[in-house]
Amino acid sequence: MRLFLDTADIKQIRDAVKLGVISGVTTNPSLVSKAGWPGDYKSAVQEICSLVKGPVSVEVLSVEPEAMIEEARSIATWSPHVNVKIPVCAAGLEAISVLSKENIKVNLTLCFSLNQALLGALAGATYVSPFVGRLDDVGQDGMELVAQIVQCFDRYRLPTQVIAASIRHPMHCVTAAEVGAHIATVPYSVLMQMVNHPLTTVGIARFLEDSKKTTGKG
Ligand code: G3P
Repeated sequence: MRLFLDTADIKQIRDAVKLGVISGVTTNPSLVSKAGWPGDYKSAVQEICSLVKGPVSVEVLSVEPEAMIEEARSIATWSPHVNVKIPVCAAGLEAISVLSKENIKVNLTLCFSLNQALLGALAGATYVSPFVGRLDDVGQDGMELVAQIVQCFDRYRLPTQVIAASIRHPMHCVTAAEVGAHIATVPYSVLMQMVNHPLTTVGIARFLEDSKKTTGKG
């Protein structure tokens, strides 16, 4: 399973990329607004692309199919790494079916059912993003949906990759890996939770302490 970073915060992206474990970034309008970008959306996306050098998802804001297609074509020129995020809806599927024939990679977003994922794959989406945490929030098992989509795409040999999105905690990543998600897109805080374990922290401190006894330093 690959890991993407789910953020629009340039500092977080810079810090995470140094770890060598991140192969892409996903953004959405809420994350962009939270990161407080000073206006030049295109330059900020290009900076992210130069840092990550892997797929970077940027969401369209149009709602009509023709406008979505035009917006997606424009976003796709920003960098060869840019993927276009399009929400599940009739207009979105129409747009995806046109864009996929132009080799513009689309990440189908706000996916909450197997049917939506299947429609996205049939329309030609490169990725589908089931929102795990938001399903959990309303009392449905988000990871069960990820497992269903992975099995369905495997069974019918559909090339669309599954991005486990709306990840809220490290156990989501564990389960995403167990059920065969191709990618999990994680907030920076969850990435750090994946790195850390209290026994590792205690173990490092103890080794350092014991090494001082041997070397007499410190
Ligand atoms: O990847 C989708 C993500 O940004 C949504 O996360 O926590 O707002 O449900 P959340």
